[in-house]
Amino acid sequence: MGLTTDVKGRKVIVVEDIVDTGTTIVALKKFLQEQGASDIRICTMLLKPASYKGDVKLDYVAMEIPNDFIVGFGLDYDNLGRSYKDIYVLDTDSDGTPDTIINIPEKHMKYFILFGPPGAGKGTQATAMVENFHLCQLSTGDLLRKEMAAGSELGLKAKALINAGELVPDEIVEGMIEKQFDTVKGVEGFLLDGFPRTIAQAEALNAILAKKGEEVTSVVSLMIPDEMIKERIAHRAAIEGRADDANEEVIANRIRTYHDKTEPLVAFYKGAGKYNEIDGTGTIEEVRGRIADLMSKY
Ligand code: AP5
Ligand code: MG
Repeated sequence: MGLTTDVKGRKVIVVEDIVDTGTTIVALKKFLQEQGASDIRICTMLLKPASYKGDVKLDYVAMEIPNDFIVGFGLDYDNLGRSYKDIYVLDTDSDGTPDTIINIPEKHMKYFILFGPPGAGKGTQATAMVENFHLCQLSTGDLLRKEMAAGSELGLKAKALINAGELVPDEIVEGMIEKQFDTVKGVEGFLLDGFPRTIAQAEALNAILAKKGEEVTSVVSLMIPDEMIKERIAHRAAIEGRADDANEEVIANRIRTYHDKTEPLVAFYKGAGKYNEIDGTGTIEEVRGRIADLMSKY
């Protein structure tokens, strides 16, 4: 047993895959104490209580297992059983095949689409939902506005279209979304706000997710009447100063664009069994409650 770093006066956490008789853990703890570690904690993924003879307290045990010979999922026995998908007991009923005792469930990310016309409340509601459900909000509108503010080539390309209430080309937003999926870490999933907005974008999203072995979890569709869209955007224009909120004709064009190019996604996602409609009228808190109730089912 050797150390590559000085542990004197330091807190040490030992992470084991499996503890059976406990011989290794007892020797390791004694060794770390002799090296002057100030605090030693032991955790293990698996423990065989029937075998354990050690007098060392185990601070964390993820799962207790029977006393059989166990391999798999990184449990190392002369390099046997590394990288198996599950955990196995070797041939306990002598039929020649290892018996799976624990299936390690594959962890999937969640991909929610917060859908709705301009001004439906997507941005407003996304903030609370990402916190509740440990997600990352991806708003293509916000990402494009950032590019515009930075004066990037992409921002300049998007500016005229956005300020006229038209959609930017599909490839631009698809590239932005894929890049974010690949760079954002440490979340349980994504909440897509304002994407996809065309059938082509929805198909591209399916393809991007399929490459990862993932799929859209659910579409949360916030619906409000067109008249309310105008009222809400007029209210926001005074607060946020978005150029595309400032002109009645541009707002009317955004609503038209929504009906022509984005609304067909309702049928697309209904066909895929992913579509859930929520009444977007009422107070912000009322709508929030409805969305949270729906999302908590996934
Ligand atoms: P984007 O930024 O996505 O705009 P949008 O879809 O038009 O939606 P908004 O952001 O206007 O509305 P929201 O639903 O977020 O409402 P909010 O919460 O702010 O896109 C902008 C442009 O970028 C597009 O037009 C397009 O050019 C381009 N673009 C973006 N994505 C694209 C894509 N995928 N493909 C191609 N082009 C793309 O709420 C609105 C107001 O109402 C707020 O003031 C809020 O306080 C208030 N409010 C919200 N809920 C309530 C409530 N329940 N009661 C009363 N007031 C409320
Ligand atoms: Mg928004």
